Amino acid sequence: MLQGRHLIEPGDFSLEEMDRLFALAERIEEEPGYLRESCRGKLLALLFFEPSTRTRLSFEAAMLRLGGSCLGFADPGSSSSAKGESLADTVRMAASYADAIVMRNPKEGAALVASRYASVPVINAGDGGHHHPTQTLTDLLTIRRLRRSIGNFTIGYCGDLRFGRTVHSLAKALARYPKVRMVFISPPELRTPEYITAGILKKERIEYLETGRLETVIGELDALYMTRVQRERFFNEEDYIRLKDSYILDAPKLKAARDSLIILHPLPRVSEIAPEVDADPRAAYFKQARYGMFIRMALLVSILGAVKLAGD
Ligand code: CP
Repeated sequence: MLQGRHLIEPGDFSLEEMDRLFALAERIEEEPGYLRESCRGKLLALLFFEPSTRTRLSFEAAMLRLGGSCLGFADPGSSSSAKGESLADTVRMAASYADAIVMRNPKEGAALVASRYASVPVINAGDGGHHHPTQTLTDLLTIRRLRRSIGNFTIGYCGDLRFGRTVHSLAKALARYPKVRMVFISPPELRTPEYITAGILKKERIEYLETGRLETVIGELDALYMTRVQRERFFNEEDYIRLKDSYILDAPKLKAARDSLIILHPLPRVSEIAPEVDADPRAAYFKQARYGMFIRMALLVSILGAVKLAGD
């Protein structure tokens, strides 16, 4: 049962619980009126200490489509954290006004800290370069929708794998599915942290490869997960400028890819996918962003106890 639970990192829910969320999200997508009023009278606090378009707006859209309401801030400069209020106190306040909290924060571990002070469920909307579990639910739902199942495939992650929290969360989650092979494509400076590769993948005996060249592996991939170089997490601008265009996916590079490839990206995109790729039938990143709203609807009704799922 998900009612009253926090979602801090991708391992917090069992595979069965995630399956039920995916099935619910699919039903919501297929029947637009389903659960329309299920969160009437409920309030969701959106505490965004970092910029966001998709995560914040899709949570807001999800709550409004379920008949509930939202409050919060998109700019921490307009909150009392700018006056020095601690995260613990901000979260205590939000929990006394709202039924659940969605929080994005630049500090790794902030969502876990928030969950210790909140009397209502906390959903991690991204904590620094650490995790982004609702993006992972979005990514898994997209893979399930476009490939009919999750597992038995090769996924390539490309770009900033050091700071890209969506890759950390997705790799950790996919390690729980059968026969997933992973290819990590990055410059040496932006390699995936060892707590993911040695700490999880090696331990779980997941087949993986690290390489610097997209061209040499693109033909083996069933899914390609492109990522932005995370400027905001660099210590100096020179390194960012040197690395920002390490990979640009364009039409010539895609000639070597399979027809069945799905191209994913958590977005926002900067220069790593050329605009010409948007028209390629393999580009799935805008669909992926839309699935994010349906999975967040499923998550909210479940966490708020507004719907009971079979098996709950
Ligand atoms: N994918 C994602 O987290 O996008 P935003 O930063 O726009 O929320």
